[in-house]
Amino acid sequence: MAFNEEQFKDIISEFTVSTERLQEIAAAFRQDMQLGLRDVTLSSMRMLKSYVGLPSGKETGEYLALDFGGTNIRVFKIRLDGNGEFEVVKKIARPLIVPGEYNYISKESTAEQMFDFIAEMIDELIEGNNTDKFYLGHTFSFPSRQDDIYNAQLIVWTKEFATQGVEGEVANDLLAAALKRRGFGNVVPVAVLNDTVAVLLSAAYKNPDTFIGSIYATGHNTCYLEPSIQDEKSFGKGGMILNLECGNFMKLAPNRFDKEYDDSSEKPGEQRFEKMVSGRYMGELFGMAIAELVGEQGKNYNLTSVDMSMIILDESDNFEKASAILEEKVGRKFEHDDIAKIREIAAAIVVRSARLVAASFVAIIWQRAGHDEIERQHIAVDGSVYEKMPLAKDNITSALAELLGEDADKVDTVLDNGGSGLGAAIAAAMAVE
Ligand code: BGC
Repeated sequence: MAFNEEQFKDIISEFTVSTERLQEIAAAFRQDMQLGLRDVTLSSMRMLKSYVGLPSGKETGEYLALDFGGTNIRVFKIRLDGNGEFEVVKKIARPLIVPGEYNYISKESTAEQMFDFIAEMIDELIEGNNTDKFYLGHTFSFPSRQDDIYNAQLIVWTKEFATQGVEGEVANDLLAAALKRRGFGNVVPVAVLNDTVAVLLSAAYKNPDTFIGSIYATGHNTCYLEPSIQDEKSFGKGGMILNLECGNFMKLAPNRFDKEYDDSSEKPGEQRFEKMVSGRYMGELFGMAIAELVGEQGKNYNLTSVDMSMIILDESDNFEKASAILEEKVGRKFEHDDIAKIREIAAAIVVRSARLVAASFVAIIWQRAGHDEIERQHIAVDGSVYEKMPLAKDNITSALAELLGEDADKVDTVLDNGGSGLGAAIAAAMAVE
């Protein structure tokens, strides 16, 4: 079977964003930020206060860090040596789901079960030491309302998490209670932060010319240093970091795949931007496009962004690898020309995603600059899509150049790998020093 050419072209055009359109999206994003700064209820983004500004880079001491933001939980012991130097002394990582064994993110699981699992990991990290005092920074990467550096109340689960008894609760309280149940009252959570904020702190600890931190992975979100917000409860310098929760940005037009996916998702109407750009969803959009081409609309092939990256990377003459993945997931053997088209669709979805993310960065750069010149800066980004997805980083760079023109020379994106752990340790240090 050969795909219908018209239908294929139409799908590609659905995922294509022109420079002009990108300019409009950047402008709409900036306007949404400005509305939110005036009155947060006017913005589609939550623009959450973090109660931290930038670190001095001189923070020192040993801290525990918990990185809780996806299906893989990580706990760390990190020593900060000042001058941007640090060492990860110990690290343990464990998934929240092992199919057939346990699943702590489903509707059937409870907050207690989930946080007991994390407390058990911390027990292992500190080797059962229930006497020495440990301060812990907690990177909790879900939209949470804070009124100080400790208190983050989960507003709503994202990334298809559904564990009961966490929405509306203070994440650190649930953690502290689980630690106490296990006999570790000596482990004290002192700071909570979003992963974007952690990435920004981590990058700024090493390089002060960094004002924007972003996660481009399973989920997507960005934070930035807002100079106009000062608060006596806030730690650090330069203003306050705002977690935009821009995964919820809505003021851009979804295509028919975006709409159809959203309708069938755990939380329809929410996280519309994230559903267009992040790793968790790109595979879904890709599967929907293929289903349309093969006349199986509505069928879910469980294609992931990792499948997409392998399909895009397969440049062999007979597309052996791509063909095998498609045969396994879609359940049919595709002709060579059809695989070429499927690769183009995968690429178009990734390129759109990268361009939209770049437009949001430009909006923040414009907003920070106001009427002044754009400052030289690095944008810190962490996450598997940024790091590993072919075409992602290159298309961010080219879209930045399209939108910023000559000023593009002043801006680059840098990978801050592991920032979620280091940033949590830095936040803990800022809170207790
Ligand atoms: C969450 C954000 C988080 C992002 C990246 C989103 O789903 O709402 O809080 O920063 O994922 O992990």
